[in-house]
Amino acid sequence: MEASTFFEKTDRLILRKFSTSDIEYFHFYRSNPEVATFQSWEDYQYQEAQTFVNQQMNHQPNQPGTWFQFAVALAGTNQLIGDCALHTPALEPRIVEIGFTLSPDYQGKGYATEAVSALLRYVFHSLGKHKAIAFSDVRNSKSIAVLERVGMRREGHLLQNYMSKREWIDEYQYSILRSEFHRD
Ligand SMILES: CC(C)(COP(=O)(O)OP(=O)(O)OC[C@H]1O[C@@H](n2cnc3c(N)ncnc32)[C@H](O)[C@@H]1OP(=O)(O)O)[C@@H](O)C(=O)NCCC(=O)NCCS
Repeated sequence: MEASTFFEKTDRLILRKFSTSDIEYFHFYRSNPEVATFQSWEDYQYQEAQTFVNQQMNHQPNQPGTWFQFAVALAGTNQLIGDCALHTPALEPRIVEIGFTLSPDYQGKGYATEAVSALLRYVFHSLGKHKAIAFSDVRNSKSIAVLERVGMRREGHLLQNYMSKREWIDEYQYSILRSEFHRD
């Protein structure tokens, strides 16, 4: 795979753009109720996956006021295993928000930690951002563990901050400054 076809590379993974060949597997894991437990969506439809991937294929990261979704794929085979999101707010684009999801087939192998570390490298070294933040449902222990493993700090407990599945959810806010981030 040529260097220009991915944004970041690790020992085992690449962060790249989505392609139409990812739609089926993207829908497969997004529609899994276990994956959706702490997310806003439920009963994710194939049509939604198609629209989402097509929209992301024509999109670039770091456009103020938008989310960009990176496909996380195995470096050896290019198989999609999950995704990482980057939100660049319109009002303060120097502070970005990140998110991440792995297919259950690929959880428990350290891939999320590896992908989020690569995303932070991209955020700070390629985009030169000032700060990255992430929100996690306080019950989502797997997500909290990833955020802490990549060196993010819990800097807030936000009460009833998010509406998910008709319920107000408490969230933790995690952050890392560029000055705190060290190259691997
Ligand atoms: C959040 C989520 C990505 C975490 O996935 P995960 O697989 O637990 O996280 P990692 O890929 O970093 O893997 C860590 C685990 O792999 C284990 N592991 C196995 N081999 C490893 C290796 N070579 N290197 C590092 N860790 C390894 C670790 O010990 C750890 O296990 P533990 O959870 O029993 O302590 C996943 O639960 C998910 O997609 N959830 C649904 C979506 C979601 O809620 N996203 C968060 C909202 S932003």
